[in-house]
Amino acid sequence: MKRIGLWQYVLRVLCGTGLALLVFSNTANAEENERGKQLFEMCSQCHGLQGEGMALSLAPSIAGLELWSLEAQLRKFRDGARGVHHEDIAGMRMRPMSMWLKTDEDLVAVANYVASLPAVTSEATIEGGDATKGKALYGLCQSCHGANGEGLQPLNAPKLTNHTDWYLKTQIYNFKTGIRGSNPKDTTGALMRPMAMALANDQAINDVISYIMTLSK
Ligand code: HEC
Ligand code: HEC
Repeated sequence: MKRIGLWQYVLRVLCGTGLALLVFSNTANAEENERGKQLFEMCSQCHGLQGEGMALSLAPSIAGLELWSLEAQLRKFRDGARGVHHEDIAGMRMRPMSMWLKTDEDLVAVANYVASLPAVTSEATIEGGDATKGKALYGLCQSCHGANGEGLQPLNAPKLTNHTDWYLKTQIYNFKTGIRGSNPKDTTGALMRPMAMALANDQAINDVISYIMTLSK
């Protein structure tokens, strides 16, 4: 009898703790999103109210990007692995904004919020790209970025869909010229540099981007 009583007691305590943890974690999540939403107000001034991007601010669409990659890029900006090259006009606009995220909790909260926004499909703005030729070129990209541009986290390769084409173009150009990915702290950016260099000229870049844009639809 005594043993059963003890087990009942243990069970009750465990259930109580479980319930308390559940309630606690739910509140924590809600608070985290609230905080993320609050922080995002500042981001939306350049990235748009829905994170859809604003060409005039050189700010890309970020809505619905993967959480791991948002976190990684925000950390890179904050730690000075990205956005410090003197020719990186756009990156240097973003870096001070990342430094405004003082704690890791804030960085994660805003990244969670951005990841939860519905991904946007933007219109193509680059003219003269040949998507058929681009598809052939994309053969080089898919081993890391996935056959459908969906990204492969184990390779640190972000998704390429749901981006504005002008942003993809700047980034490829930046990798090619070393404006991005040449900082010693940017070890994953370094992996992308030779790939951008493999795109021989402007036409090849336009072609591959034209193809990538078809993957977002
Ligand atoms: C002053 C304008 C401005 C504000 C405010 C701003 N950003 Fe940016 N952000 C930019 C620009 C410009 C870029 C593009 C950098 C580049 O081309 O390399 C960028 C790039 C990014 C990227 C990289 C996207 C990618 O695909 O790698 C992320 C993530 C990002 N911003 C998140 C945020 C978040 C979160 C906030 C709010 C805390 C924020 N930004 C506030 C201008 C801004
Ligand atoms: C060896 C693996 C690999 C291959 C192959 C590769 N990439 Fe990447 N790519 C990466 C990694 C890793 C990153 C993320 C770099 C970082 O952490 O900043 C990246 C980033 C990018 C970005 C920036 C995305 C953003 O949100 O800022 C673009 C654009 C891109 N790659 C395009 C391409 C294209 C186009 C090809 C084919 C010509 C290609 N990549 C081939 C590994 C690769």
